[in-house]
Amino acid sequence: MGTEVDPAFIQAPENRPKPTIAEARGIPLIDLSGPIDHLVREIGGACGEWGFFQVINHGLPKEAHRKIESAAKEFFARPAEEKRRVRRDEVKVLGYYDTEHTKNVRDWKEVFDFTVDDPTLVPASSDPDDNQVATWTNHWPENLPGFREACEEYAQEVQKLSTKLMELIALSLGLSANRFSGYFKDQTTAIRLNHYPPCPIPHLTLGVGQHKDISVLSVLAQDDVAGLQVKRKTDGEWILVKPTPDAFIVNVGQILQVWSNDKYESVEHRVMVNSEKERLSIPFFLYPAHYTMVKPLEELTDEQNPAKYRACNWGKFFITRKGSNFRKLGVENIQFHHFRVSK
Ligand code: OGA
Ligand code: NI
Repeated sequence: MGTEVDPAFIQAPENRPKPTIAEARGIPLIDLSGPIDHLVREIGGACGEWGFFQVINHGLPKEAHRKIESAAKEFFARPAEEKRRVRRDEVKVLGYYDTEHTKNVRDWKEVFDFTVDDPTLVPASSDPDDNQVATWTNHWPENLPGFREACEEYAQEVQKLSTKLMELIALSLGLSANRFSGYFKDQTTAIRLNHYPPCPIPHLTLGVGQHKDISVLSVLAQDDVAGLQVKRKTDGEWILVKPTPDAFIVNVGQILQVWSNDKYESVEHRVMVNSEKERLSIPFFLYPAHYTMVKPLEELTDEQNPAKYRACNWGKFFITRKGSNFRKLGVENIQFHHFRVSK
């Protein structure tokens, strides 16, 4: 990126990052080696009050984490033309790209996407009457020994952690531990490598604009360069999530918000960039099978607390988003709140 910055990167004044920010005091830090009853209470509290927490003693092997980090660094350091050889397009939605927009402003980042299940089953089109199924396959860079293995090994490990977290979340909602497991048999879960290069105008741009994850749950590894900010529920203040060595950041996604009928809300977050240091982060987005109809769980709704959302076909939602979020649109993207029942 040259000295002349593309105006597509410039955030509206109200969305630009402020120079001073409070630290992450308050975002719960949860020790997953603790006693189960205590853990369930802590996780339930964190999901309800913050929508965000960090976990330590999570059991994810350090080596798997270290390997994917160095593989990602190596990949992003390759020449642009080499990275573009695994670039995504309209048909091939996985791989490398550097032109994502969040809310129609370009993000200061480049990414590499892959799915945990390979191939992954998805609807063939966003047309609601089209019942055909298609597959996505991962596209790995050539000439980068160990990259694919590092990604696949990490995927297996972070998947195990997410299963443990979903069991604790189920228990915290008064459900049986394996209540959610059926949704993930043909999961569409994906992992993204995010690289945020240094930026000459960090006060005008964002690495990722303000958004809520559409996942069930996201499990994020960040390096030691701060940048992630979370919008605190109590006062709307942007809080920096201070990097904690070996901790993973977990956040409630919009599907879990719908399943829990708003008991656990998905919270907005964004990424600041800086002029000196590059930053790397690795989110794991837990997504259900494409045929899942996302709606509030029956166990969590009754006459006093009726369902706040109509059912939404996850696969159709997902590929509609996939088809649209890498080009600048004049219209709003499809959103879960479009499925909200009006009062
Ligand atoms: C995302 C995201 C946070 C980060 O990719 O959805 O919120 O710290 N990333 O990179
Ligand atoms: Ni996010």
